[in-house]
Amino acid sequence: MTERKTALVSGITGQDGSYLTDFLLARGYRVIGMFRRSSTFNFGRIDAVTRKLGEDRFQGIYGDLADASSIKHALTKYRPDEVYNLGAQSHVGISFEIPEYTADVTGLGAVRFLEAIRALVPHARYYQASSSELYGDVLESPQSETTPFNPVSPYACAKAYAFYIAQTYRRAYGLYAVNGILFNHESPRRGENFLPRKVTTRLAAIHAGLADKLVVGNLNAKRDWGYAPDFVECMHAMLQQDEPDDYVIATGEAHTVREFIEVAASKIDIVLTWEGSGVAEVGIDSRTGREIVAVSDRYFRPAEVNELCGNPSKAVQRLGWNPRKTSFNDLVEKMMKHDLEVAEMMVRLRERWPTLPIDSFKSAFLREIDDEKAGIS
Ligand code: NAP
Ligand code: GDD
Repeated sequence: MTERKTALVSGITGQDGSYLTDFLLARGYRVIGMFRRSSTFNFGRIDAVTRKLGEDRFQGIYGDLADASSIKHALTKYRPDEVYNLGAQSHVGISFEIPEYTADVTGLGAVRFLEAIRALVPHARYYQASSSELYGDVLESPQSETTPFNPVSPYACAKAYAFYIAQTYRRAYGLYAVNGILFNHESPRRGENFLPRKVTTRLAAIHAGLADKLVVGNLNAKRDWGYAPDFVECMHAMLQQDEPDDYVIATGEAHTVREFIEVAASKIDIVLTWEGSGVAEVGIDSRTGREIVAVSDRYFRPAEVNELCGNPSKAVQRLGWNPRKTSFNDLVEKMMKHDLEVAEMMVRLRERWPTLPIDSFKSAFLREIDDEKAGIS
């Protein structure tokens, strides 16, 4: 029998950390999940899959990307074969509000991992969660591994440091360190303050009578949106190659924020018509005349990334990546279906317990729905 591989994952409580955990556990790995201390529990995305597993399959540990000692302890104790650094302050807009913290966690967090790996477990393979935000104010389209970076946010500057330090440790010390330059990927587990999930949760709430309006920023920004569970498979594939290298993972198809909202609205039989321009633009339900979407300058960033579209040819050839695995329409449909079920559940709960602080239970309910579908009891 071959020995179980051990993977250490930072950012385990996030969208990608949870899907990667599902993926690795299904392949027989032992997963060590690093999470930071928080005043409330936020294990909603991983709890249902991991809670019944013994320590030989899953072990959660406290750790923080700002704390090198916690990283060193984890590496010394568990001696992982693979390290996935997915932890980050990952919100681009918020990085303008907390730039120094973002640099520390999202940028320096990577060198804390790499230094510790170099000293303690140099055999371990390291995955760095790099980002299409690195291309920023894009210098060519579509963007590939050879497109120059042009970051325009504190988040992207921090990710640029993490990207180059991973490359540097590969070249200087021969570590197996790779960058996955992932374009936007979404799912029902996506954080609710990223545009796609904000749209699907809000439209579902409007449909259920729990909210009035969706208020967004730049309707004309374009993104290359894929499905997160497909993307985490590539993270793993990058660490199974003979030689370490960097890869773009994208669908190669870009849509505007406006299109995302239109497709999501169509799932609740709303055809939107747009009136006005700039921050005065509104989206109207063409059947009822009701204003459903509004624009606020609050959601614009000090510097906008207007358009991202990836060229994933290298990953297609070398990793077997299938950019068409989940279509844009199917992605939006999955998210809307899920959020409509959650909204319905919220309505029933509110009827029964008007004073229940629903938000604190929400992530647990989200997983219950996933588990029913996955057949997990
Ligand atoms: P996410 O949902 O925001 O998850 C981020 C994770 O990092 C969470 O588990 C969070 O913990 C953790 N974290 C934050 N600060 C930390 C700290 N100081 N120490 C330890 N952990 C910390 O992000 P995601 O969408 O899963 O993305 C995963 C990674 O890929 C991130 O590095 C992101 O920047 C990058 N990326 C994402 C995309 C995308 O489209 N999703 C595209 C390209 C790159 P809490 O739960 O406690 O907040
Ligand atoms: N969040 C948000 N909220 N974005 C909005 C809104 C709004 O109300 N209105 C318009 N947008 C626009 C943003 O300006 C951006 O152009 C686009 O919608 C997508 O925004 P987000 O979903 O917040 O994602 P992002 O592209 O800024 O960053 C995500 O993708 C990166 C990869 O390209 C994050 O996951 C990053 O961590 C990741 O690196």
